[in-house]
Amino acid sequence: MVTLVLDDPAQSANTMNGAFTASLSAVADRLEAERESVRGVIVTSAKKTFFAGGDLRDLIAVRPEHAQDAFDRSMRIKRDLRRIETLGKPVVAALNGAALGGGYEIALACHHRVALDAPGSKIGLPEVTLGLLPAGGGVVRTVRLLGVADALLKVLLQGTRHSPRRALAAGLVHEVADTREDMLARARAFIDTHPQSRQPWDEPGHRIPGGTPADPEFAANLPAFPANLRKQTGGAPYPAPRAILAAAVEGSQVDFETAQVIEGRYFTGLVTGQTAKNMIQAFFFDLQAVNSGAGLKAVAGAAAAAEPRNVRKVAVLGAGMMGAGIAYSCARAGIEVVLKDVSDQRAAQGKAHSEKLCAKAVAQGRTTQEKADALLARIRPTADPQDLAGCDAVIEAVFEDPALKHKVFQEVQGIVEPDALLCSNTSTLPIGLLAEGVQRPSDFVGLHFFSPVDRMPLVEIIKGERTGGEALARAFSLVRQISKTPIVVHDARGFFTSRVIGQFINEGVAMVGEGVEPASVEQAAAQAGYPAKVLALMDELTLALPRRIRDESRRAVEEAGGTWRPHPAEAVVDRMVEEFGRTGRSGGAGFYDYADGRRTGLWPGLREHFTRPAAQGAGIPLRDMQERMLFAESLDTVRLLEEGVLVSVADANVGSVLGIGFPGWTGGVLQYINGYEGGPAGFAARARELAERYGERFTPPALLVEKAERGERFSDRG
Ligand code: NAI
Repeated sequence: MVTLVLDDPAQSANTMNGAFTASLSAVADRLEAERESVRGVIVTSAKKTFFAGGDLRDLIAVRPEHAQDAFDRSMRIKRDLRRIETLGKPVVAALNGAALGGGYEIALACHHRVALDAPGSKIGLPEVTLGLLPAGGGVVRTVRLLGVADALLKVLLQGTRHSPRRALAAGLVHEVADTREDMLARARAFIDTHPQSRQPWDEPGHRIPGGTPADPEFAANLPAFPANLRKQTGGAPYPAPRAILAAAVEGSQVDFETAQVIEGRYFTGLVTGQTAKNMIQAFFFDLQAVNSGAGLKAVAGAAAAAEPRNVRKVAVLGAGMMGAGIAYSCARAGIEVVLKDVSDQRAAQGKAHSEKLCAKAVAQGRTTQEKADALLARIRPTADPQDLAGCDAVIEAVFEDPALKHKVFQEVQGIVEPDALLCSNTSTLPIGLLAEGVQRPSDFVGLHFFSPVDRMPLVEIIKGERTGGEALARAFSLVRQISKTPIVVHDARGFFTSRVIGQFINEGVAMVGEGVEPASVEQAAAQAGYPAKVLALMDELTLALPRRIRDESRRAVEEAGGTWRPHPAEAVVDRMVEEFGRTGRSGGAGFYDYADGRRTGLWPGLREHFTRPAAQGAGIPLRDMQERMLFAESLDTVRLLEEGVLVSVADANVGSVLGIGFPGWTGGVLQYINGYEGGPAGFAARARELAERYGERFTPPALLVEKAERGERFSDRG
């Protein structure tokens, strides 16, 4: 019996790099040569994970002129896996840890898959989330294993990462083992009992489960696939789901070998395109940089190196929408939570949010009743400040009112630990202003969560003028402790995220004022890949919010001797509030009409009062509408870099996609500029066109002009 142990000596995880490809060929040669003496093969790994997948450093560098090379390389891997699969001897994958992407494709080429139920271990083909498709036979084999529909919906289109038990339920592995020994014993047992294994698809007369487009019943369901796809992408320019759908459907109608070629061709199209590069940059390289502290180092300097101890007990002040979500996220990470509000009843209502989330997780099999009970036991609702004794961190989430925020910090200061970390979840108030009301401003940071807290992966950490580096490092470590992604910025009105998303909303609202059909504005945002409707988002935030921020900002600019340049959106919002009394969802009427708090449709008055007939020139091309929104956000991000509010490009990219819904296909606000046709120079030229047509706010800032002239991209490497 042969055991193949995957163990790349040069890296901490195994990837499909050149060395792997070469050794895979050599192994296939040797197995074929010594076939007679081989009883069976076990494939496992010496690393913590089984196999990490494609080598993203290689993949991101593939240029269109390398298309043939990329295709040939993918065909070579497919061919070698196929040689092992058709050896005529049993081959078993013993998945000792995560098997994602290329790792799971190796497993798919084995006749039997046993997964160790290791904590955090994941199985699946997440290539779609990086703008790619599985090109080691992953599309071809999942289609033959599960059928076209299940392969697409359970594995390929969402890129779901299944736990070993869920992978078993979905039919992706055959057995789950509790220990390593058990896993290997099961692998050996399979070899003993299946001396001449063949894949189901190599058995005579194999039919793809659920049929192929040649079957009338299947053909009748075909139109549902593109419709599903549209639902998934919102019509945004994501090429990978389309390519996956095509490779799966086309590959199901031909023999195995032809299907492999089809898969290889679609992969080559994706890997040489810009979207995959953008997504690999943002969702792999930038995300890794952010989580390992790129922004923290840039803002906190040497203090970033401190490794603060974990938070044990946190005081959450305010059990409203945000406080309740923060309490849940902390308790889920094993932190004791004291959830304080003005009355026991309010505090209990806040805890009820966690009870609801836990019940749902148990019902969906995502957690056990025991774990849910333990999580809930960690949350103590109260109205008594004395219960906050022993807390080593405070997160404040009361109403957005500076005086109230000062008051609640005063109230708890003598009670919590004397060196407790002090955080405010304010979304708009300057951290410097709030710091004036606390006794230890150097321990005070902004900790800006996003709603709904349990689902949103980002937290924006804000350094006030007096915030110390150590407090920043502690805040960063707390965010990592609750498994969220922390970006770090300097203090400014709206910080990074609130200010930049404001630009998106302003453009949408301004277009209504210019006479564009409101439904077209919403449609343009969706087709650009924004997850939220822009006018609906404005209603959620209330129309009072931009008015308040505008008034405060104008005062600040004028006090500093500057001239306030109004955004065209302001006049629209003013008219909505002052002339029509429409203040947003909480007021029961905004850009939309509402019944019982639910949107019923766009307010017909918008057409009557704002929309001009096409003859009067309201016909803004779709591309301009979309680029106005995207450019407004990217250009303002460049200004934030110039102002020194933002210091890390990776933080900007990751923060924009994970926090404020900047479309993922762009790779984030700054990667969008890098990847735009013609790079930063092409982007700057287009910005000038938009400035000429729609206003000087699109004029490229000096930093962009400089990058464009020097032919440089936005990057943390300088
Ligand atoms: P909310 O109105 O749902 O909750 C505020 C809670 O604070 C209420 O339960 C209230 O009873 C409680 N409270 C008032 N005075 C208190 C006191 N003296 N002691 C303890 N609790 C007190 O508000 P929400 O939406 O949860 O917002 C809270 C904070 O989070 C605000 O600063 C807001 O700007 C910020 N934020 C809100 C986001 C959102 O999407 N709603 C996103 C990010 C930040």
